[in-house]
Amino acid sequence: MLLDFTTLPAREAYAWLIGTITPRPIAWVSTIAADGKTNLAPFSFFNGVTARPPTLMFSVANHHDGRRKDTIRNIEAVPEFVVNLVPFPLAEQMSASSASLPHGESEFEKCGIASVPSERVRPLRVAAAPVAFECALDRVVTIGDGPLAANVVFGRILLAHVSDATLGSDGRPDPAKLDLIARLGGDSYTRTREIFSIPRPG
Ligand SMILES: Cc1cc2nc3c(=O)[nH]c(=O)nc-3n(C[C@H](O)[C@H](O)[C@H](O)COP(=O)(O)O)c2cc1C
Repeated sequence: MLLDFTTLPAREAYAWLIGTITPRPIAWVSTIAADGKTNLAPFSFFNGVTARPPTLMFSVANHHDGRRKDTIRNIEAVPEFVVNLVPFPLAEQMSASSASLPHGESEFEKCGIASVPSERVRPLRVAAAPVAFECALDRVVTIGDGPLAANVVFGRILLAHVSDATLGSDGRPDPAKLDLIARLGGDSYTRTREIFSIPRPG
């Protein structure tokens, strides 16, 4: 089949994007509002950008009615955030934290997710996350406007917490020990279980 993205309605385009660009890593993003209220939500339009300077990105779409999500409102008020990575045992809590709560209601409390203070930024981090990146806002790039338009957030990585239990004998993260999940289309996810290696060509 052929899909003409120049004429597809946005909802359809979204369904095809999330159904085809898979598996996607998940940024579980913690922010705070100006009044100190905490917020936590997952975003799978997420990736690293560059090591110089250390930068990552994730994309926050507007709601179907055009409203902006709490994560982007908070980042604009307090330009700091933590990107927590999501291992299999935290999958249910991660999913629960994606529910739309009234602005100012905390997913940490509502979903019973244990948090710990961060070192360099004000938003909390997820205590059980094997990796957490403390970030300062670099910039927000807006793509489109209105419903489903994107606010692409670029974050400068200041500090990373990496659980020692996830390290291999070479001192680097072992993907099997990290056991991260990734998002597929619809409601499905995948787990880092089937791992193979290909030596890099010289
Ligand atoms: C696994 C997963 C991945 C998601 N990825 C995105 C995404 O990339 N962009 C987005 O705008 N929403 C994404 N969502 C939906 C948001 O998490 C959801 O809208 C959330 O309520 C936003 O919270 P906030 O209003 O506190 O920012 C995702 C949800 C799940 C469960």
